[in-house]
Amino acid sequence: MSIKSATFVCSSAKVAQCPKSNLPEYAFIGRSNVGKSSLINMLTRHGGLAKTSSTPGKTQLINHFLINEAWHLVDLPGYGYAKASKTARSRFAAIITDYIRQRDALTLLFVLVDSRLEPQAVDLAFINSLGAAGVPFALVFTKTDKLGAGALQRNTAHYKEALAETWEELPLTFVTSAESGAGRDDLLNYIETINTTLQHDHNGFL
Ligand code: GTP
Ligand code: MG
Repeated sequence: MSIKSATFVCSSAKVAQCPKSNLPEYAFIGRSNVGKSSLINMLTRHGGLAKTSSTPGKTQLINHFLINEAWHLVDLPGYGYAKASKTARSRFAAIITDYIRQRDALTLLFVLVDSRLEPQAVDLAFINSLGAAGVPFALVFTKTDKLGAGALQRNTAHYKEALAETWEELPLTFVTSAESGAGRDDLLNYIETINTTLQHDHNGFL
């Protein structure tokens, strides 16, 4: 899929303030600093669209971006930032939980994990909570430019092994880098496939 237009719509402090829209919506979630905002900029090829920072805790609201006038990308605050105050952490957790539970337009959640790390308890706990809530998601490995092919292979395998302990079927996975653009086509093509299926559903073809 080619990106013809990508525009910022709004930032919302609560799910009730999100755009009144039924367009398909794809949200990016993961630990603070994992690279959610950077990935949105990489996918849209729009450097400053989502605000990024080397300091965790940058994205604090629900940010909607309209793509090709047809669907939304959503940048969410991160979870698991140990140094944030307790109040800030519970505020982010509430925003994320409410968004996931209440946002009817949410089509798929992309859960981002850092490809350089061993499976993190907070990520596994978050992913397992999605299973319990029946939320569709795919797993995205980020920052793959920072490690060699062998280490990448090893780390992604470890993640899959950790998930296999609780999941019968493994989620779809994407291997990405906001630096090199790796994974861009795969991710956008996947979104396009889902959008097409949804259109057919609405047209009554399926
Ligand atoms: P919060 O909004 O704080 O939750 O963080 P975030 O997940 O949106 O992370 P963000 O995109 O702001 O990136 C955090 C840091 O990681 C920044 O310094 C980015 O430049 C860097 N970064 C993100 N993705 C990549 C990547 O693929 N490769 C490399 N080398 N650095 C990356
Ligand atoms: Mg961010």
